[in-house]
Amino acid sequence: MTGTAERIKKLTDAIVRINPLQRAFIEESLIDVRDHELRDLDAYIRFAESAGIESDYLAESYDLIVKDTLREQMYFQRHGCYRYSTFDEVAGSVYFNEEYMRKYMHGLAITAYLWPNHRALHRYFIDVIPTDKDGRYLEIGPGHGVFMMCAMRKTAFSRFEGVDISPTSVEMTRSLLGSGLFGDFASWEIIEQDFFASDMEDGGYSAVVMGEVLEHVEDPGQFLRQINTVATDDAFIFITTPINAPAIDHIYLFDSVESIEALVSDAGLTVRDSLLVPYPGLSVEESTAQKLPVNVAMVLGK
Ligand SMILES: C[S@@+](CC[C@H](N)C(=O)[O-])C[C@H]1O[C@@H](n2cnc3c(N)ncnc32)[C@H](O)[C@@H]1O
Repeated sequence: MTGTAERIKKLTDAIVRINPLQRAFIEESLIDVRDHELRDLDAYIRFAESAGIESDYLAESYDLIVKDTLREQMYFQRHGCYRYSTFDEVAGSVYFNEEYMRKYMHGLAITAYLWPNHRALHRYFIDVIPTDKDGRYLEIGPGHGVFMMCAMRKTAFSRFEGVDISPTSVEMTRSLLGSGLFGDFASWEIIEQDFFASDMEDGGYSAVVMGEVLEHVEDPGQFLRQINTVATDDAFIFITTPINAPAIDHIYLFDSVESIEALVSDAGLTVRDSLLVPYPGLSVEESTAQKLPVNVAMVLGK
């Protein structure tokens, strides 16, 4: 077994030790994984190791997301709404709780490789992001930094900027990009700020990317309007957000694709292309009717 395969097996074994129910899911999921995704997952494990983080901690991080999601799904099924609806209710226990946020972001980064729905979003992002566009790239809520790292590897933007409200996310993204394990990157900066309170330059960005943030804010329409303001007229704008997908810090419930499209349109933006990833085994319509999660990625234009 190569070093890559060994390290990934060590991680998946550690996950299954904590949560045996994950065995079948992970085994089936890995059938479809691509070699470059395994190499990136391995680089992520080595990146964690370089910071003194062992597989057992990464497995606990992954399990935190699995168990939190399960608990919130039960709440959602009983009540028909997410548990919390305001930023203040979740900020202290999530974004500003260093211990929780660190595990949450490591866990989320791993799902980008181990969960078919998150893998689909990442593949789509890599497929649609323009490789020859110039100008400044802005990412809102990079979290663990994996999307931003992929963009920096693949594109020709002259400068890359990230803005995240969580000090832990800022630190994690900085250390991932600066690790050298994913590439040697120049001209980038990550700032700690609420995007909505930030004073990004109007019309300053040729790309604005925001993965899994819209459901974390009280007024996603306002966020989309601000994206419209900071983007150039021909900007590449990319967002992802889930429908009917409870999590401890999801405070805005999108219950259909149309509910996202309506906010996009109200913000003066149009949907140029999209990817919808329904609940396994169901269509988008069936998932929506049964209030089961659908992952959505959209390329927007002005
Ligand atoms: C669920 S993570 C998404 C990480 C990554 N983009 C992805 O797609 O997996 C959400 C990130 O958005 C950040 N965030 C939430 N509200 C924000 C805001 N108002 N301004 C900037 N960042 C925000 C959180 O701190 C967190 O790092």
